[in-house]
Formats: sequence, C-alpha cells, structure tokens
Amino acid sequence: MAENETTQGLHENRVFAPPAGFAAGAAISGMDAYQQLCDEAAADYEGFWGRLARENLAWHKPFTQVLDESDAPFYKWFADGQLNASYNCLDRNIENGNGDKTAIIFEADDGQVTRASYRDLHARVCKFANGLKSRGIKKGDRVIIYMSMSIEGVAAMQACARIGATHSVVFGGFSAKSLQERVIDAGAVAIITADEQLRGGKPLPLKSIVDEALAMGGCESIRDVIVYKRTGGNIAFQEGRDLWLNELVDSQPAECEPEWVDAEHPLFILYTSGSTGTPKGVQHATGGYLLWAALTMKWTFDIKPDDVYWCTADIGWVTGHSYIAYGPLAVGATEVVFEGVPTFPHAGRFWETVAKHRVSIFYTAPTAIRSLIKASNSDEKVHPQSFDLSSLRLLGTVGEPINPEAWMWYYKNVGNERCPIVDTFWQTETGGHMITPLPGATPMVPGSCTLPLPGIMAAIVDESGQDVPNGQGGILVVKRPWPSMIRTIWNNPDRFRTAYYPDELGGKYYLAGDGAIRNKDTGYFTITGRIDDVLNVSGHRMGTMEIESALVAHPLVAEAAVVGKPDDTTGEAICAFVVLKQARPHGDDAKKLAQELRNWVGKEIGPIAKPKEIRFGDNLPKTRSGKIMRRLLRVLAKGESITQDVSTLENPAILEQLKESA
Ligand code: WT7
Repeated sequence: MAENETTQGLHENRVFAPPAGFAAGAAISGMDAYQQLCDEAAADYEGFWGRLARENLAWHKPFTQVLDESDAPFYKWFADGQLNASYNCLDRNIENGNGDKTAIIFEADDGQVTRASYRDLHARVCKFANGLKSRGIKKGDRVIIYMSMSIEGVAAMQACARIGATHSVVFGGFSAKSLQERVIDAGAVAIITADEQLRGGKPLPLKSIVDEALAMGGCESIRDVIVYKRTGGNIAFQEGRDLWLNELVDSQPAECEPEWVDAEHPLFILYTSGSTGTPKGVQHATGGYLLWAALTMKWTFDIKPDDVYWCTADIGWVTGHSYIAYGPLAVGATEVVFEGVPTFPHAGRFWETVAKHRVSIFYTAPTAIRSLIKASNSDEKVHPQSFDLSSLRLLGTVGEPINPEAWMWYYKNVGNERCPIVDTFWQTETGGHMITPLPGATPMVPGSCTLPLPGIMAAIVDESGQDVPNGQGGILVVKRPWPSMIRTIWNNPDRFRTAYYPDELGGKYYLAGDGAIRNKDTGYFTITGRIDDVLNVSGHRMGTMEIESALVAHPLVAEAAVVGKPDDTTGEAICAFVVLKQARPHGDDAKKLAQELRNWVGKEIGPIAKPKEIRFGDNLPKTRSGKIMRRLLRVLAKGESITQDVSTLENPAILEQLKESA
C-alpha cells in the first residue's frame, strides 16, 4: 500500500463476490454486462443517454436533442422533450395494469399501518393538485413542504410535480429561522405543513414553527399555509391564510390532467450546506432527474415487481426525494414509508419492521447501523438475529463512509451473508447514485463504494485538474455532465459556477467537494472525506460557517470556529471553539454557558446543528495575518497533541486553553 493510503478502507483486503443466485436475475448481471454499458457510454455518450431516457420514461413530447452544452456549465438534457414526473410515477403504473398494486405501506410511529395502492395514491395526488390549483398555485410557483414522514408528504411533492409547481422540502428538524430563510430565498407562495409530527412517541411542533418563521417577516410571498392534521394537537389558526388540507382537497375531483413541462423545468429546489455563506438552493430539472431516479432503482437496487423496498431516509433530504418520493414510484415498486425513529419503541424497530412487512430491499445510513450495533450489543432482544429477516435480499447504505467493521456487521447480522450491500456514494447535487457496487456484478470490498455507474465519468485529479494515478489520493470530479446533475443554484448562478465548475480545474469538471483515492489493483474508489469546510454528522451535511454564524449571533459570543471531530456513532461530531466578549468562564459557569449556546444553535439552525463539544478560549489560534488555523483546531478537537509547526502562530499560548472542554 502506498504511504498516503491512510483510510481504514484502503487496507481492506476482504472481497465478497455477489451471491450467485443474485447475479443470475440481476438487471446488470456480471462485470461484462457492466463493462458493456460503460463501453456504450464511452463510444456514444449522447446515444447512450438518449436510449435510456426513451426506454425508462414516458414522454408527452419526445426530445430530439439529448445534451445541449452551448451554455456550459449550465448543461441541458432532453431540452425540447416534455413530460410530467407525477404522470410517470402514477398514471403510467395504472396504465400498465398495476393500479391495485400497493404503492406505499405507511408504518406510523406507533406501528399503525396504512396502505395506498397506485390507484389510491393517484386519486389523492390529483385531489391535492386540484386543491393547490384552486388556491391559484400554478406552474413555476415555488411551494415549501415542511412535513412529517407521511403518505401526505409524498403526495404533496407529487401534487406539486403534477401542476408544474417547484417544491422545496425543508426537513422537519430545521428551525423557524432556517425555514424563513428558505421561504425568502425560494420566493415561495405557499407552505404545506402538518399540525405536529410524531417521533418516538412524542408530538413535535411543525405548524407553530411555520407561524414563528412567517412572523419573522420577509415572507410576504406566502399566501397559503396548508395544514395536514396528523395529531390533532392544539395549534393556532390564522383565518384567511391557514387552511386544513382535508377541507381543501376532499371535495376536489380525483382526476387532474398533468401539466406537461419541458424536461428542464425545475422539479424541485433542495437547500444544502456549502463551505461558505447561506445554504444553497440546489435546483434539479424534471427529465434528467427522473430518468436517473428510475434507472438507479433498477441498476443499483435491482428492483423487481415483487420487492418490498424500504428507504429509511426523510423526505427532507435528497435521499427521500430520489429514493422515496420519485424513484420507487417511477418504477412501480411497493415501498415502506416510515414515520418513526430507529430506537422507538425499542432499538429493534428496523428489524421488526423488516419482518412485519417482509421487506426485501433495505436502504439506510451508516450512523443508524452503528447506533444499532451498540444497542444490540447490550440487549439481545433488539439484535437483528432475534428477528425473521429472511425476506431481505439486498442492503444499501448512504450518506457517509461506512467503516469496514460496521459493513461486516450489517453483512453478517442483517444480511445473513446472503445479501449484497450497495455502498452508494452520491450527493444532493448529483440527484442520484454515482459510485456504487452493482449487486449482481461488482465484487464488494467493505468501506469502498467501488466503481462509478455506467455513464458517470468519475475521476480523481490533483489541484490543477490533472489525473492522478491509482493509489494516489486526490480530488473527486466528474468529467462529463450527466442527466440528473444540479442545474444551478436557485437565485445564484455565479455561485453555481464557482462552487462546482471552478476555473482551477479548467471550468470543465464537476467538483464534488470530496477527496478520494482509487485502489491500485482494482481501481475501486474510496471516499476520504470532504475537502471543504463541510461536516457530515450522522449523514447530515452542515457548513462550519453556518454554525459559526449562529454562534456569533449570540450576544455573548465574540468569535467562533467550528471543526469536525471523529465520532464512533455519528461519523463526525461538531466541536466549537468560542471566544466570549467577556472573561473566559470556568467550571460550572462554562458548562452552563455551553448548554445555553448549544440550545441557541438549535434555535438558529435546528437540533442537528448543536455542537457536541464547546471549548472556551481567550482567543483562537491565528496566524500573524489573523487567519484562524483550523488544522490545529482539528488536532485539538481530537484530543491529540500538536506536533505540527506552530511558528507562524501569533499566540501559541492559546492552544493550552483550548484543550479543555466545557
Ligand atoms: C456528501 C453528500 C447522498 C445522499 C445523502 C447525503 C458524503 C454520501 C457517501 C458514501 C462516503 C458519502 C460525501 C458527499 N457521502 N454518500 N456512500 N460514502 N461518503 O447527501 O447531504 O448532499 O451529502 O455525503 O461527503 O459529498 P448530501
């Protein structure tokens, strides 16, 4: 192994061939079939994507041009074609004779189950769409969805798609302030929400947070707040602005002619964190996005008509868009939609639910796996082996690197060594899977996302954009545009160009923001982590700058620097170094203030952004020119001693203070 191959996964030499029975029936069966598709893409890139787009989507008006690069990097795909995403996800399945097939099995927090067939879901979406239209919401309008996991949440997204409104789902864990910022940036005309959400047996507010967000001002574009009654909890109602979902939709007709939109029409905006500034509104198009959501369901998940598929993500994240709200429905699958949390009423809930619904494909995050490993080590009753998991045939992970030990546990204890694991690397910006094993083809190596999907021209380059040889780490890029890629940053095309197509790389390569390395022998990719100031905590992406801005907004805080530190369960944990406007606190005072600051960040951004650790100093380690030396803070956060050169440091004495956690 080369010296710089430091990541755990790179020292992994266990290889797991896809189970023989699996390969036989798989959509892409064997490495030759994979290679053939890669060759097809290399030989005729547009021909390849054009064929797939015709085969996998129903077009109202066929496209004549596949890729338009004339305004690069604002690439357009299938631009003169027209389609509707909701038609592709619902009507098409009914026309194919699957109207009575179960589309969604809703597993509520308390274990209650509700089912919706494709016909039911179609009717609900049409009524919802007609309800939105009756409020004057139309094609091109932006609609914020701030909802719990529910059939209504999926229906809300589909209803927007049906009428050509661009949705922007905001995760239900974000604060009023985060919600307000997104409403303003998107210029949304309506918010769809619920009275409350149920998680782990507890009602959590949604509607009251909407009220709070709108009261902050600047949200005058919002005309309607549509409220789904989930718990019946007590909420305030503002006449003329707020309306109950059921009152809006119940009397609507169950048919709604889809609004045919151009392939490039923005299907949704989803805000995500970057290294600087406010969250970026990642804009996705309709045609290319839906193509990839559908196709990766077939390629990566090998979805079959009898599968029961379950992705445990929330619709507030891109995983819940591509692999709950759109992909599974676009291929006519039966999917579980889960409202609850993995640890309620006990830490065996995932496995119990797999057994209950005979789930065959299970897709979750490494963080969840790691926390369930811990729980099942101390309580046999919640161990996966205590449940009947014989229905499983494929497992997946997403959102962060999976450490080989967690991979092995998942493989042995959940998959019983029968189920391939797809470790899917992708991003909000990529719309769908990019680098992942194919379950019927790719030999798996724990901790490696293996190889790019056919047509995805992923590569590793150095800082000037030159290819680096296998075995040498570098920057992950994608050399050619692909259909489901981000189109722009809403309201900020300049930021799109500089963030993703930087001049340093020649302006031609998509910059993922991750470091990666390819194995010398196999060419397999291992992601080595973000190369920017973006943290990944439990698979949730957060900018250090956002958390710093939240901290300095507190009246007592003068300065703050946030870094990630490795964490056994959450992957990374947030560690904040804080300088106060007053004397540095000690002991209980420090503890009390740290707690206050944590809650403050929770209020400013959302509970997921609360720092795990806070350390107070009289200053931060800075160079003579005043630049904060983050690499030193990272070392301190890990609890390691500083061996680096600190000669450029203005104030070396400060390091001693910052070793101590409040
Ligand atoms: C970042 C994207 C992918 C949808 C959910 C997260 C990290 C994602 C993996 C993986 C290693 C991964 C990367 C990426 N990441 N999947 N399989 N192995 N790292 O989407 O919030 O946009 O975050 O998550 O760092 O850049 P996101």
